[in-house]
Amino acid sequence: LTLPGDKSLSHRAAIFAALAEGHSAISNFSTAADCASTLGCLAALGVPIDRTGSTVRIGGRGFAGLRKPAGPLDAGNSGSTLRMLAGVLAGRPFRATLTGDESLCRRPVERVAEPLRAMGAVCTSTEGRAPLTIEGTRLRPLRYAMPMASAQVKTAVLLAGLQADGRTSLVEPSPSRDHTERLLPAFGVSIAREGATVSVDGPADLRAIDFAVPGDVSSAAFFVVAALVLPHSDVRIDDVLLNPQRTAFLDVLKAMGGDVEWGTTSEQPEPVGWVAARSSRMHGTVVTHEIVPALIDEVPALCVAAACAEGSFSISGASELRVKESDRIAALVEGLGRMGAQAHERPAGLEIDGGPRLRGAAVEAHGDHRIAMALAIAALTADGDTQIAGAECAAVSFPEFFELLGAACRG
Ligand code: S3P
Repeated sequence: LTLPGDKSLSHRAAIFAALAEGHSAISNFSTAADCASTLGCLAALGVPIDRTGSTVRIGGRGFAGLRKPAGPLDAGNSGSTLRMLAGVLAGRPFRATLTGDESLCRRPVERVAEPLRAMGAVCTSTEGRAPLTIEGTRLRPLRYAMPMASAQVKTAVLLAGLQADGRTSLVEPSPSRDHTERLLPAFGVSIAREGATVSVDGPADLRAIDFAVPGDVSSAAFFVVAALVLPHSDVRIDDVLLNPQRTAFLDVLKAMGGDVEWGTTSEQPEPVGWVAARSSRMHGTVVTHEIVPALIDEVPALCVAAACAEGSFSISGASELRVKESDRIAALVEGLGRMGAQAHERPAGLEIDGGPRLRGAAVEAHGDHRIAMALAIAALTADGDTQIAGAECAAVSFPEFFELLGAACRG
């Protein structure tokens, strides 16, 4: 397989291109509805965007080229769109409102509003959630100790920092995905990193680039787990993003006895390569808090592997799962539980006693794309039919998921 471009990288490439001077071409742009939300918001801010096939061309005119939008900016289901654009808007001389769908409007936004206020922007949330209204201003630089590992918050503060006069520094409690730090230099901006501190010097200008987005590694995770848990199966995925802050799920699957291999074929600005996996007898493992940020989006896929493995599996230090597109701890325990798995909620994680064969059941996606896809893989291993209510939400990150999975299963 090869997969549509990585969602995290596509959001960033589009936003940075919109802020750059000149024309950028981004090829293999993500097909995710979330990334279309980012493009829609940028277009509403006056950025010229042309999308032809999988290539997106963006005519940036610098930060100063952004215009006050005619109405609220709709981030749809996308937390990345809302939180990252908040950092851009904090330094623009107009008032704009960011909003989204029902699920997004249940998720916390104070985590970005708070540091942006400290830089001088007026941010008004709705009881800590979206809609979030931002009146941008000339920003002060900030030194900020982030209370949680969040790449979205980090990116928002760095994007605000690029518009401030002086050095903005962030201290991360534990490493989160570093795509912003890797991609901004490709757009001509220097980033300084010292231990857990990352800094930018503002004001800074970005320059347009052409960029090919590698395949989405979080989408790949579902195919890797499918090949591992289904008998007589194997899969190879090429041209996929292999950033170490995103591949911890591969290490965990290997530690569980999974026959999975991967290798890097190029490094700049992001490691890219291949992943191969085949049917394996796996056993449970213990996933502890230090590596959770590097596999946070892959927990749903990992839990399916755990339900099919022998023995006990646990994840702790993962309370962030409760504020994703759904409460993923509750949604996984409920869905896998209905299919006969021994899954138990913990306040900041979950435990699964693997072994018993799953059985088909009526389950719910809870409006969460990764829950829908995880339950679909579980359904393939189960005896009998499974109905996943609301499974169409897979399109939030991976519209081709069911078609590609069907084709892969037929061989
Ligand atoms: C993302 C960061 C993560 C992740 C999300 C995408 C990003 O969220 O769960 O799917 O692209 O920066 P947090 O920043 O809240 O950890």
